[in-house]
Amino acid sequence: MHFSYVNPTKIQFGQGQISSIKDLIPQSEKVLVMYGGGSIKKNGVYQQVSDALSEHQWIEFSGVEPNPTAEQLQQAILLCKEENVDFIVAVGGGSVIDGAKYVAAAACYDGDGWDILLGKHAIQKAIPIAAVLTLPATGSESNSGSVITKASTKDKLPFMHPLVQPQFAVMDPGVMKTLPERQLVNGLVDAWVHVCEQYLTTAAGNMVQDGYAETLLKNLLVLGRDYANHDNDQWRENLMWTANQALNGLIGAGATQDWATHMIGHELTALYHVDHARSLAIVQPSLLRNQALNKESKLKQMGKNVFGFADSDTLVSDTIDAIEAFYISLSVPVKLTEHSSTKAQAIDDIVNQLEKHGMVALGESQAITLDVTRKILEEAVA
Ligand code: NZQ
Ligand code: ZN
Repeated sequence: MHFSYVNPTKIQFGQGQISSIKDLIPQSEKVLVMYGGGSIKKNGVYQQVSDALSEHQWIEFSGVEPNPTAEQLQQAILLCKEENVDFIVAVGGGSVIDGAKYVAAAACYDGDGWDILLGKHAIQKAIPIAAVLTLPATGSESNSGSVITKASTKDKLPFMHPLVQPQFAVMDPGVMKTLPERQLVNGLVDAWVHVCEQYLTTAAGNMVQDGYAETLLKNLLVLGRDYANHDNDQWRENLMWTANQALNGLIGAGATQDWATHMIGHELTALYHVDHARSLAIVQPSLLRNQALNKESKLKQMGKNVFGFADSDTLVSDTIDAIEAFYISLSVPVKLTEHSSTKAQAIDDIVNQLEKHGMVALGESQAITLDVTRKILEEAVA
């Protein structure tokens, strides 16, 4: 193990915590509140944010779409520049928070913000941001990552920078009450795959990272199996905190990481508008079967420690089957059906996009070349 680890995001967890933003942003700061398509207007979150900021000077930018686009966020970047915004509060799920991260950095840059995604601009400065989380899934509220889409070219690319990590995150599980079930399930699946991307790699005997990853996976399994009882405070609290811990840097510190499922999944979202979490459930079972030999040791460990299986000759395949069955039990499809073209054309299109994005050797050991991706997609595309 060899790593540097800090998570500087202050977490304000629990019901009623939105009011605390009043004291967490200096009153002299001019605030931009960013939010999505309006769910926060219906569930009282907008009102709580307005009340908390009643003594601040603030403006708003609304309508951030799921899988936020650089084209749309350009308007928010201009607004920040024109209005000299000092602080951004993102109120929403991963899309709004990721969008705010992009705006925060691009507003401090004279060139085209997309340069950040292309690696042509190294972020030097960003407007400070905070998050009021309304959908537990991505972990974006306390990490430095962001995923932005360029709609015109169907590019969905990630960037990471410590300057865009939220200074604080309000996590009030009460706000989850209005989540459509589809989004709640998406959150469970996304968090699950985040743990897998950092855990199902090579066995390195990292007792803290492995042990904590297994705890998070077991939590998600329990919450999924108890899904019928999701309308209660404890269920919501546990999902919100588990999803946060799944991608806040802790279990990934010093661990070999994969992320191939995510990189292939991003192309499915960019090409066919598949929900982020659903893109992962489509790719991952096939990817794990393809990479079973490379991941044998960790798949066995997961089978025993997460699913409670005994050692057997079929432990690896039983574990992958159990992961797939978990998605199916949540009514999440495990095959791509959203493509309107033939299967062969869809596979070509996905592989071409990956090649264009330089995703030509994915996974913890760069074993997932474009040819391997083709084999994975043969099983994943219906
Ligand atoms: O826009 P509104 O009206 O708010 O509705 C949203 C949206 O339609 C709705 N919603 C959110 N909170 C709600 C609610 N509806 C009712 N009540 C509430 N409390 O949910 C819909 C989906 O929201 P979105 O933010 O798109 O979902 P999610 O949090 O799953 O974010 C997905 C995005 O995050 C990226 C994904 O690629 C995708 O673009 N990711 C970001 C990561 C990161 N920054 O670390 C990592 C992830 O792997 C992921 O790639
Ligand atoms: Zn994800």
